[in-house]
Amino acid sequence: MALCRSLVVFAIVALMAPSISLATDFVVGDDAGWGLGIDYDVWAQGKQFFVGDNLVFQYTAGAHSVYKATGDEFRNCTVPSNSSLGSFSGNDTIKLATAGNKWYICGVNGHCDGGQKLKITVLDGGAPAPAPAPVAPGPYSTF
Ligand SMILES: *[C@@H]1O[C@H](CO)[C@@H](O)[C@H](O)[C@H]1NC(C)=O
Ligand SMILES: *[C@@H]1O[C@H](CO)[C@@H](O)[C@H](O)[C@H]1NC(C)=O
Ligand SMILES: *[C@@H]1O[C@H](CO)[C@@H](O)[C@H](O)[C@H]1NC(C)=O
Repeated sequence: MALCRSLVVFAIVALMAPSISLATDFVVGDDAGWGLGIDYDVWAQGKQFFVGDNLVFQYTAGAHSVYKATGDEFRNCTVPSNSSLGSFSGNDTIKLATAGNKWYICGVNGHCDGGQKLKITVLDGGAPAPAPAPVAPGPYSTF
């Protein structure tokens, strides 16, 4: 019985392992995407972001942009003057490489002030959890 359960657990873990190790892609704003009139605090609420996950910003190229900002830039809606720090493709994948607070703002004039800004906290520990310990020997022994 216990042996049988261990085998089943092992088989399930073996099957799931490849998907466990994949990072999560978060489409910012979900179907609404990256734009004006969306409350990104609400969108981020209840989500857990881990190192290795990706944010995907989707919008019509030219209508918006994505700048990774500092906390100060986020609060003041100061767009970094160096446009090499921005992303403009309309389908911008940004990898969450380190833990901590991250801030993103739209670089188009007035958009950040209009609420097109996202603040998230990235957590350590996105690495795949270790395989569960073998089922503890229960009342049923295997011999
Ligand atoms: C943000 O605004 C504050 C107060 O106006 C100012 O002291 C600070 O230098 C500003 N920071 C940035 C990055 O613009
Ligand atoms: C803009 O940033 C790039 C790399 O991030 C750097 O090579 C370049 O010198 C910067 N330009 C200015 C004007 O700061
Ligand atoms: C966005 O880019 C990802 C890869 O970074 C790609 O898989 C996806 O199909 C793209 N989506 C659109 C709508 O272009």
